[in-house]
Amino acid sequence: IRAQIGVYGLGTMGSALALNLADHGFDVAVSNREADWIDAFLPEAAGLSGNVTGHADLADFVAAIASPRTILFMIPSTKPMDMMIDAITPLLSDGDTIIDGGNADFNDTRRRSAALEGTGIHFVGMGVSGGEEGARNGPSMMVGGSDHSWAQLKPMAEAIAAKFHGDPCVAHLGPDGAGHFVKTVHNGIEYADMQMIAEVYGLMRDQAGMDAGQIGQVFDGWREGPVASYLIDITAKALASTDAGTGQPIVDVIRDQAGQKGTGRWTLIEALKMGQSASTIEAAVGARGWSSEGDVRRAAQALLDPATQPADIPGTDDMENALLAARILGHAQGFRVLSAASAEFNWDLDLARIAEIWRAGCIIRSALLDEFAGAVRAGLPHGHLILAPAMRTRLTAALPGLRRVVAAAALSGQPVPALSAALAWHDTMALGRGTANMIQAQRDYFGAHGFERMDQDGAHHGDWLR
Ligand code: 6PG
Repeated sequence: IRAQIGVYGLGTMGSALALNLADHGFDVAVSNREADWIDAFLPEAAGLSGNVTGHADLADFVAAIASPRTILFMIPSTKPMDMMIDAITPLLSDGDTIIDGGNADFNDTRRRSAALEGTGIHFVGMGVSGGEEGARNGPSMMVGGSDHSWAQLKPMAEAIAAKFHGDPCVAHLGPDGAGHFVKTVHNGIEYADMQMIAEVYGLMRDQAGMDAGQIGQVFDGWREGPVASYLIDITAKALASTDAGTGQPIVDVIRDQAGQKGTGRWTLIEALKMGQSASTIEAAVGARGWSSEGDVRRAAQALLDPATQPADIPGTDDMENALLAARILGHAQGFRVLSAASAEFNWDLDLARIAEIWRAGCIIRSALLDEFAGAVRAGLPHGHLILAPAMRTRLTAALPGLRRVVAAAALSGQPVPALSAALAWHDTMALGRGTANMIQAQRDYFGAHGFERMDQDGAHHGDWLR
């Protein structure tokens, strides 16, 4: 018997997905560039209901998979993916599908899909969220590619996906780069959410003088409320974890410097290209960037005068509301980027389905996501999540907390870039008469760019005083 699917790349995510597939009764052929990884992996799959076979040779691997073949690659989505496409395509036949399950730049996915167009080989870009545990026990998956490939993949993907009340967290979202784009925006929202949590943690640590254990208890208390989410959960657990070597809270021995692999930055780049702002995500990407200049920051602490003023330290209820409001605003920006991309690339993205498949399995899963999904399903007024009736009710209740938190942080010199960006965006959207008339005046003054008037049509110039 031939395998129903091939999995190439036995790193953390590839092995976990292969085991998940076998656990659901699918026969899986596996391969890996380093052959000894295959031998190390096979014993892990022993006893699962699906049959798992290992193949060091690429031609053997391909021959072990039933036609039309579905082959999932879990390897870096950069040069290695291009090399593997080149190596495997001559071995494939009409109707076979290559899936890139990594965090690919959707521009690469579009390029690869276009290159395979007309060859009979199908290319799928599939975003997989949920980390190792998700991949093993139920990830959320965002699929882009042909209907043919989806028909092949669907039964397997739905079986291994996380379930939200029985609904599998996987969907075919559109052609070529659609799945990877949606995954990229998921990660952008993830960055913003993580940053907002870190900012609230900072307020408790630096302004309220709380230790890691105390802060952990506050987060623990939020695990049942409106901000309940996977990221709140792991934050509470991370704060309660102790470093074996020193006996200190682990968070207190970790350097305040965070890297990134690129997805958050891509969300922003693509948003800006489409004339959108995803300012909460920008703040989060920027904060990771500045975090890497630790030496400068430590020198600057002695050189810069923060000129702070006393501020009332917000209570934890305000902080919870700040997180709630900012999370709604961050997601709203992410959804706005998705709808812009849908129009730009003719994807016809089903935003409600996207929200639905983010309700379980993925990193940004939260109690709010079901509310978002309901709001998007009901139709977004003017295309904006923040205008959905349920979200407006939430925002009205939570915004005072966000305002107090941002104000107190500003007075006390505590940086809260993502929370402030969220608030500033809200207030921009809530201001019917903005201040861009001044920008227009300046542009016309120095560059004769012209401006539109409120009382007349057409382009006009001002009689500027020189
Ligand atoms: C997920 C995560 C996952 C991974 C990212 C983190 O949805 O499961 O987003 O894809 O953890 O690579 O990205 P950074 O390394 O850029 O923080």
